[in-house]
Amino acid sequence: MTRQPKLELHHHLEGAAPPAFIRGLAKEKHLDISGIFDAAGNYQYKDFADFLRVYEAATQTLKTPEDYHRLTLAVLEESAKSGVIYCETFLSPDFCGGRDVGAWQDYVAAIRDAAQMAEAQMGITLRGIVTAIRHFGPDKARQTAICAAETAGDFIVGFGLAGDERAGQPADFAWGFDCAHEAGLHLTAHAGEWGGPESVRAVLRDLRVERIGHGVRAIEDLALVDELAESGTVLEVCPGSNIALGLYPNLRAHPIAQLYARGVKLTVSTDDPPFFHTTMTREYENLHEAFDWDEGVFDGFAQTALDAAFCDVDTKAELRKKLETSHA
Ligand code: ADE
Ligand code: ZN
Repeated sequence: MTRQPKLELHHHLEGAAPPAFIRGLAKEKHLDISGIFDAAGNYQYKDFADFLRVYEAATQTLKTPEDYHRLTLAVLEESAKSGVIYCETFLSPDFCGGRDVGAWQDYVAAIRDAAQMAEAQMGITLRGIVTAIRHFGPDKARQTAICAAETAGDFIVGFGLAGDERAGQPADFAWGFDCAHEAGLHLTAHAGEWGGPESVRAVLRDLRVERIGHGVRAIEDLALVDELAESGTVLEVCPGSNIALGLYPNLRAHPIAQLYARGVKLTVSTDDPPFFHTTMTREYENLHEAFDWDEGVFDGFAQTALDAAFCDVDTKAELRKKLETSHA
């Protein structure tokens, strides 16, 4: 499973920060964030709201483009160990320069430089999806969209919405999505994680997204499931995240197998791997164990991810070659 080439479309850069890396930065900067770790040194949180608080506390140690350069290398090294050949990661101008366009450009340059080093050294390709944070509100999301539009290109390829799905309505964020779309960015949004089917319908209708982050609670409305299958809308499913955050008690109770059986296009991702004690390899192994899915199913997820990836056609062609040679 480790060596099988994997493409990951739903991944938060700060959420992938190894705890030891964040502790190291905190020490260098004389910051006390010890409260976010348990005795074993892992991130600790009680529920989703607390998870967001811990996540945001960890970002307090990431203060410069150089910090993000180091973070990107550390994170990609972990992903490459799981056989990930392509990753789209969520990047937030909120944490990278406080939504100032000039500062944001410096952060993007640093992350991109680290991504190029990782590609040369480890054969993993990274692209960025600029992400507004829903509970920070629509004003900040508009500023975030302007940052996204100013850096749209071959590295920044998408725009998204993360954070607490229970805050506000998707329509509140439509200006930002329109702005990003006009700049040529692809669109995705978290929905159907903490909200039900109506939340999924709303991001499709009001934000015109191509993919949905999570989307698993669409299962509560089978007519919606059939619409997703017919339209070919891709769900970025993160089973380990959903279980760690208490959405479902275990994989058998998780709707991934039902969604798959009803013909919904889906991919598998880790979301925030160290927070959820997961890796891409572990996600695959757990799914294999729970549903007896074979290599063909996982190859299908990789192919779906390749088709739905937001990168340009040349990058896709390179990735396709890598997938094919792995089967030769
Ligand atoms: N930000 C990081 N992980 C997230 C998740 N699972 N849902 C919403 N926002 C997030
Ligand atoms: Zn997410």
